[in-house]
Order: sequence, then structure tokens, then C-alpha cells
Amino acid sequence: MRAHQVMTRKIISVKIDTSIVDHDPLRLLSQLYRGNTMMTRRQANAGILASAALAAAPAVAVAQELKPKDLPPPRSEGGQSLTAALKLRRSTSEYSDRPLPAQVLSDLLWAAFGVNRPASGGQTVPYWCHIMVIDVYLAMADGVWLYEPKTHKLLPYMKEDFRAQTGLQDFVATAPLNLVYVAHGERMMDVIPEERRLYACVDASFIGQNVYLFCASEGLATVFRGAVDGPKLGKALKLPDQQFVTFAQTVGYPRA
Ligand SMILES: Cc1cc2nc3c(=O)[nH]c(=O)nc-3n(C[C@H](O)[C@H](O)[C@H](O)COP(=O)(O)O)c2cc1C
Repeated sequence: MRAHQVMTRKIISVKIDTSIVDHDPLRLLSQLYRGNTMMTRRQANAGILASAALAAAPAVAVAQELKPKDLPPPRSEGGQSLTAALKLRRSTSEYSDRPLPAQVLSDLLWAAFGVNRPASGGQTVPYWCHIMVIDVYLAMADGVWLYEPKTHKLLPYMKEDFRAQTGLQDFVATAPLNLVYVAHGERMMDVIPEERRLYACVDASFIGQNVYLFCASEGLATVFRGAVDGPKLGKALKLPDQQFVTFAQTVGYPRA
């Protein structure tokens, strides 16, 4: 039995009343976020806990024909005050299919995960133990791209439209952008697998909150999502063995 399976069993045995809970964490999350009003807070909590313990997927690297995409330089001014953005921050599940302009995409990625201290390479998010373990992938209509903070470019990863596979909710297939936060387990060799997932999820969450605040400031809609079949998505993305999907986050314009 693999370590993550042991952890999953342990969590379920402690936290879940088996009489009320659907044992499939993905089905549970899917029901929850499709608006199943019969679900209790207890069931929801159980699903999120179980989801957080899901396994990583094995995979290999992918060959590509697409060229890197330059982004315009991120704007260094503008936006609403932090207080205004905090007042507006919310999760949204109804999106227009309107694409994000390049400037908005550039500003969003810089806010999310960009380099804010070029001298040291420091980024807009804190991260575990001076080791950045997260990659930010973008699933858009024109394919999957990998954001490179250092050069502020999008590197081509896959040509296919993978948006529908980035989550269990219908809106993910048509919203213009789904960010996928992928962790490099191999960069955390000194910690046990369960803790790797914990640190990776914390790192991803900081990025997620930056995205929330940027979207609030710019009138964009977003939602940070755990309702993702991580192993399946990791396989589809052909992630190397030690890498795993933590969370995903949809971004777009709100549906009018
Ligand atoms: C760890 C985590 C996982 C989440 N997963 C999902 C998800 O899969 N789908 C979804 O629609 N919302 C998801 N959310 C968003 C929450 O449902 C939302 O933040 C919460 O209901 C409060 O709403 P608000 O963000 O508008 O204040 C998630 C939030 C967090 C922090």
C-alpha cells in the first residue's frame, strides 16, 4: 500500500461518519459544487479532506510544436485599493466565454506568481523552504501553456483544449482560462509524501489568493477549485511521476 493510501484511510477513519458520506471524494465534491443542497457541512468537510489526500499521477514529458508566447510587460500601476479588492473578493461559477486580452493575462500572471524583486528573483508569493515547488499551467482554448515567471513568457505545453478536464464543474470547459497548480514532489525529497502535499497545497493557495485579489480589482470572475480529478488530469497532462496536481482555478469575465 502506498503512503498516500495509508493517509487517505487514516483521515477517513477519523473524520468521516460512514453512514452519511459518499466514499468517493471526487463524486462528493462534484455533488457539492453542482449545488446539491442536501449535502451537510460535515459531508463537505469530509470530501475536501479526502480530496486533499488524493494521489499523484505518473507520466512522461511532452513534445511540442507551438512557439513560446510573449506577454506584454505587466502594468506596474492601476487597479483598485487593497481594501476595495478585499471587499469585492468572491468566488464565481458563471463565466462568459469572452477571452482575456493579452494585457489582462500578463497582469494576472504577474500578480499571481510573477517576479517582483528581479535582483533576487523573488516572487509575489511566499513559498516553502526557499524552494519553488509549484508550476502554473494555463488551460485555454488554444492549448495548455506553462507560465515562466523569470521571463514572463508562456511556454507551449500541449496543443489540445484541455479546459474540460481541469475540473468537475461544467463552467470549466467554456471559461477562457483555467489555471492548474502542479507541484514537483521531487523537489521536496527531505519530507514525507503527506507533508509534500501539505506544503504544495499551501504554496498553491497563496497563488490562488493573489488571483482572487487581482480578479476582484479588475472586475474578473474566479474560483479556486479542489473539485479536480488530480490523478486523471496529471495523466492527461503527462506529468512526470513525482509531479501532482494540487488545485485549479478558473478565471474569466463574469456572465452578464
Ligand atoms: C480549498 C478550496 C477548495 C475549493 N474548491 C472549490 C471547487 O472545487 N469548486 C467551487 O466551485 N468552489 C470551490 N472553492 C470555493 C469555495 O466554495 C468558496 O470560497 C466558499 O464557498 C466561500 O465563497 P466566497 O469565496 O465567494 O467567499 C474552494 C475553496 C477552497 C479554499
